[in-house]
This record gives sequence, C-alpha cells and structure tokens, in this order.
Amino acid sequence: MEIIEKATIKDATQIHRMVNKFADQGKMLARPLSEIYENIRDFYVIREQGRVIACAALHVIWEDLAEIKSVAVTGDYQKKGWGEKLVRVCLEEAAHLNIPKVFCLTYTPEFFSKCGFKIIDRENLPQKIWGECFKCPKFPDCDETALIYSFKN
Ligand SMILES: CC(C)(COP(=O)(O)OP(=O)(O)OC[C@H]1O[C@@H](n2cnc3c(N)ncnc32)[C@H](O)[C@@H]1OP(=O)(O)O)[C@@H](O)C(=O)NCCC(=O)NCCS
Repeated sequence: MEIIEKATIKDATQIHRMVNKFADQGKMLARPLSEIYENIRDFYVIREQGRVIACAALHVIWEDLAEIKSVAVTGDYQKKGWGEKLVRVCLEEAAHLNIPKVFCLTYTPEFFSKCGFKIIDRENLPQKIWGECFKCPKFPDCDETALIYSFKN
C-alpha cells in the first residue's frame, strides 16, 4: 500500500526524472538536480516497491507565505486521489508551521482548484517570489496560473 513519506536523498534522482519527464511534455517546469538536492527536505514522496511514483514539495518563502511545488504523480497512479493527498500533507505542514497562505504556479489550475485553491493575479504575489523565477527558462514571460490557499483563522 502506498503511503506519503518525507523524501530522502536517495529519492532525488527519481524525483528529478519524474518532474523533468512531465516538464518535457510541457506540463510543469523543469528542475535541475541540484535544486532537488538543496531542497530535499521540502519534498514528500509516495513509493511503490522502492520506486518513487509521486512527489510534492512545500517551500517556505516568508513568515506568511509558502509555495507548493513539483506536484507529480506518474501515469498509472493518476486520478486515484494521490495528488490531492500530497497537496493536503503540504498544507498540513504549512498549518503546523503557522504559515497562513500557500500559493502555487501551475499549468493545471483545475487540479489545485479541486484542492481548495483560488486563482489570483500573479502580480499580487510578493516581489520576493520572483527571485526564484530568474532561474526559469521562461522568465520574464511566465505563462503559469497563480493560485492561493488561505487558512481560515
Ligand atoms: C496534476 C496531477 C498532480 C494530479 O494528480 P492526481 O493524483 O492524478 O489527481 P487526483 O486524483 O488527486 O485528483 C484530484 C482532483 O483533481 C482533478 N484533476 C486531476 N488532474 C487534473 C487535470 N490534469 N486537470 C483537471 N482536473 C484534474 C481530479 O479529477 C480530481 O477531481 P475530483 O475529485 O472531482 O474527481 C497529476 O495528474 C500529474 O502529475 N500530472 C502531470 C504533472 C502536473 O501537471 N503537475 C501539476 C502541478 S505543477
């Protein structure tokens, strides 16, 4: 049975392969392996017989904002609720950290809407997040949709 666990350093190459395979299909942004190693503590994975079949990451931006990144579920395991469960685990961690808002930038806004996120204007996100965007091959022509999840007090 698949369970959601924190990633270990041994998962990094498999996460990298999975994310970049979807990136090649234009479904998400590519991530260099170095970025996955540096941020491995952000990642959750689901493993099936030792193989990573899904991942998601929660990255803290500031005292009131975090980002969900690199949500991916391999083909055979899609549409079984695992993507939403991974997002829930990331949101639970944000709540545990007392971070009131979590955003994402995605080509799949419908999925995040199902997870309770609301579409926002990218321009409303703080300047701070664009620091990372410098590294993106698409910068400054971002074509992702921004969504935000706000915890109710
Ligand atoms: C998008 C992705 C993460 C969804 O994971 P998943 O495990 O298949 O999704 P779930 O089964 O948890 O779906 C949750 C809900 O979102 C909907 N959903 C899932 N993928 C969707 C998509 N591509 N478009 C529209 N709705 C979608 C499901 O139908 C479901 O809705 P329901 O509860 O009304 O049935 C997965 O398809 C994937 O890895 N795609 C390639 C990479 C990608 O696009 N990542 C996006 C984040 S950057």
